[in-house]
Amino acid sequence: MPEQINVKLVKQIDDSYKITIGKDLFSNISDRITSLVKSNTFVIISDSNVYPIYGEKIKNSLTEKGNKVLTVTFKAGEESKTRETKSQLEDELLKNKIGRDACIITLGGGVTGDMGGYVAATYQRGIPFVQIPTTLLSQVDSSIGGKVAVDTLFAKNMIGAFYQPKAVFIDISVLKSLPSHLRLNGIGEAIKHGIIFDEEYFSFIEKNVDKIKSLDEKTMTLLVKRSCEIKTVVVEKDEKESGLRQILNFGHTIGHAVETLSDYKILHDNCVCIGMNYESLIAYKIGRITKKEYDRIKNILKAFDLPFNIPENMKPVDIIAKTFLDKKVKNNKVKYVLPSKIGHADFGIEVSENDILKIF
Ligand SMILES: NC(=O)c1ccc[n+]([C@@H]2O[C@H](COP(=O)([O-])OP(=O)(O)OC[C@H]3O[C@@H](n4cnc5c(N)ncnc54)[C@H](O)[C@@H]3O)[C@@H](O)[C@H]2O)c1
Ligand SMILES: [Zn+2]
Repeated sequence: MPEQINVKLVKQIDDSYKITIGKDLFSNISDRITSLVKSNTFVIISDSNVYPIYGEKIKNSLTEKGNKVLTVTFKAGEESKTRETKSQLEDELLKNKIGRDACIITLGGGVTGDMGGYVAATYQRGIPFVQIPTTLLSQVDSSIGGKVAVDTLFAKNMIGAFYQPKAVFIDISVLKSLPSHLRLNGIGEAIKHGIIFDEEYFSFIEKNVDKIKSLDEKTMTLLVKRSCEIKTVVVEKDEKESGLRQILNFGHTIGHAVETLSDYKILHDNCVCIGMNYESLIAYKIGRITKKEYDRIKNILKAFDLPFNIPENMKPVDIIAKTFLDKKVKNNKVKYVLPSKIGHADFGIEVSENDILKIF
C-alpha cells in the first residue's frame, strides 16, 4: 500500500478593501495609501500617456513622506498588454531589488490595472497592490473585482488570476484629460449595471445625460460610486464567476461576437452597447420585458450617441455563428444573460437559434 499524507489547507482569507471616490485625491495620496497599506516602498506602474500627466504628483506625494518610489512605464495601448511587457516590467523590479515588502500602484486605465495587477499577483508569489484607475471604464468596471490578466495572440485576457487590490482610489477629475473619443468610454458598462441590477440607477443615468456628457463632477461621483457598489455586491456574492457574477456579462455574448468580428477595431464598450440592444430585443421577443422597457434601453443608448446596430459589413449569421463558438453552448442553444425588467437580470437562459434569428 502506498503511504499517504494529507495536506490540510482549509483557508479563510480576508481580501476586503476600500474604494475611495472623490476629486483631487492625488496631492495627499501618500497619506491615503499608507493609512490602508503598510509599506514604505512603492512601484508605480503606468503607461506612456498617463504617467506624464499624473505620475510625478503621486511620486512626489510619496517621496515627500519618506517613501522609496520606483517608476516603471510601458507604451500605452492594448497591444502592450502582453506576457512580454509583463516580463519587462518584472525585470525592472528585479533589477531594482524590489522585495516582498513593496507595494505596486497601478496608475492608468484597464490595460495598466489588468497587467500591473497581474505583475503584483505573481511577483515573488504575490505582493500588495493599489489601483488608481484613470478611465471611466476602469473606474466603473475593471479596477473592481480582482480580475487581472494579459492578452495572448490567441485570445484576450487568457493568462491571469483573481487577485484583489488592497485599495482603489478613484479620482473623478482625471477623466477631463482623456481624448474626447474616450471620455465616456465605459458608460455602456454603467448603463448595464442599471439594467441588470438597479432601476433607480438606470433612471438616474436617463435624467442626467447632459451632466454626464459634460463630466459634471457631482454627477460623475454618484455614477462611479453606484457602479462600484453594484459590481462590489455582485463580486462579494460570487468572486470567481461560478454563478451570479455572470449577470455582468449582459450584452457581452453578442457584444463579444461583434468585437471579435471587428478584429477588435470597435471599442469593447461600444460592442457591449450593440450587444445590450440585441440581447434586450431577445428579452422582449421572448416575453421577458415589455416594448416600453426595450425602448427605454434603446433610447438611453441613443441619448449618449452610442452605437446599437451591428455594423453594415457584418452579417447576422456570422455573429450567431460566433456566439455558438462560445464554450457555454449546450444542446445547440446559447446561454444568455437577459433582463426580466429594468433592474433585474437572470443568467444561464437558453435561447434557440430561431429566437435569435428573429431579432436581426
Ligand atoms: N479586469 C476586468 O474586470 C476588466 C473589465 C473590463 C475591461 N478590462 C480591460 O480593460 C482594458 C481597457 O481599459 P481602458 O479602456 O481603460 O484602456 P487603456 O488602459 O488602454 O486606456 C485607454 C487610453 O487612454 C489613455 N488614458 C488613460 N487614462 C487617461 C487620462 N486620465 N488622461 C489621458 N489619457 C488617459 C491610455 O494611455 C490609453 O491610451 C482592456 O484590456 C480590457 O480587457 C478588464
Ligand atoms: Zn465588459
